[in-house]
Amino acid sequence: MSTLAMNGGTPVRSKPWPGWPMHDETEKTALLEVLESGRWGRLSGDRVAAFEQAFAGFQNARYGIAVTNGTAALEIALKAAGIDIGDEVIVPAYTFVATATAVLQNNAVPVFVDVEPDTINIDPKAVEAAITPRTRAVMPVHWLGRACDMDGLTALARKHNLVIIEDACHCWGSQWNGKGLGAVGAAGGFSFQESKNITGGEGGMILTDDEALAARAFSLHHIGRLAGRPFYEHALPGGNYRMTEFQAAVLLCQLARLEEQTLTRERNAAFLNAHLGAIPGLTPLRREPYMTRISWHAYSLIYDAERMGGVVRERWMEAMAAEGVPFWSGYPHPLYRNPLFRDRAFGRILDYIDFPDYREVECPVSEALCRSDYVLMGHPTLLGTEEDMRDIVRAAEKVAQHAGELR
Ligand SMILES: Cc1ncc(COP(=O)(O)O)c(C=O)c1O
Repeated sequence: MSTLAMNGGTPVRSKPWPGWPMHDETEKTALLEVLESGRWGRLSGDRVAAFEQAFAGFQNARYGIAVTNGTAALEIALKAAGIDIGDEVIVPAYTFVATATAVLQNNAVPVFVDVEPDTINIDPKAVEAAITPRTRAVMPVHWLGRACDMDGLTALARKHNLVIIEDACHCWGSQWNGKGLGAVGAAGGFSFQESKNITGGEGGMILTDDEALAARAFSLHHIGRLAGRPFYEHALPGGNYRMTEFQAAVLLCQLARLEEQTLTRERNAAFLNAHLGAIPGLTPLRREPYMTRISWHAYSLIYDAERMGGVVRERWMEAMAAEGVPFWSGYPHPLYRNPLFRDRAFGRILDYIDFPDYREVECPVSEALCRSDYVLMGHPTLLGTEEDMRDIVRAAEKVAQHAGELR
């Protein structure tokens, strides 16, 4: 039997993985065109509007409003949907902090609920149990571009008169029952930050099918201006969240590659699921029939140390990295364990509205994922060849065979 690389053996792989972000001559040409045109912002250029239209069309949404980043997209989407002081918004505990800070920035109250252990998406049963007379919205996160149970959530929203604002920050190209995510609920927010599957360095977008919501979101991102009204007339308390023409120029090029890249990620992820899923201790996430297209912002597995011969996750990741296949362990703790929530660092809004005592929140699935049960690999890896995917499988099989040495 071969020797583990961490014990001096030959690594399964020493070649590098695909890098990120990717670009070619089209980005260079587009950037130079913007530079030389002298139209660098959306007030004078037309690329931001072109990207809004192209991306909204790509996701089957009627309206798109490009903004500075995904965090701003979520903040504005909530505000445009009418979320206001003291409203409770139900969010998953396992997500990036912006899902919850977008709520706080609207002087509203994030209420954390657990995710399902096999999809890592918000659990509709937990959402239902958390609804109070103050609940106004749910913000499902389509984790890694895997659609949440939108039928279940929509039924709850109808019953309790809630709005659904999707955190679609991982959802470029992702679909729910054949429709692009982002405008399945009232609105959704996307991110184009530099680690994302299409990127302008930074950037974001709000998508919606609702004309009035789109008009409010446009105004809120444009210092309160309303389309078609005088430049110095301001109707809403908005900020300046406009995307630049440089970002839009790059994003249009990135979008042109997205379909093909998503199909490659789908194909490689299916290969990995079939082969890695056969190794005891590694379980691919459950794919529901409504997840008709997944963007695969990352490839991830539920990790079971006991079934991996008692090898704890960090040790397994060390052995895999030595074989040339790096994984990471995701968020170190559920959101509510951040000092922001535990210490209620919300300022004087505390004098006006009640917040839960976040020290008492306990979401066991999210806790286990953070502590020990989850491993992820970045999306660029999924753009490799089938031979590259075989290296991942060979490394995981080798490490599993040597589990006894790793305990
Ligand atoms: C789930 C989720 N929501 C929101 C965001 C915020 O996006 P941005 O970094 O563009 O502000 C991110 C970005 O990392 C994210 O992963």
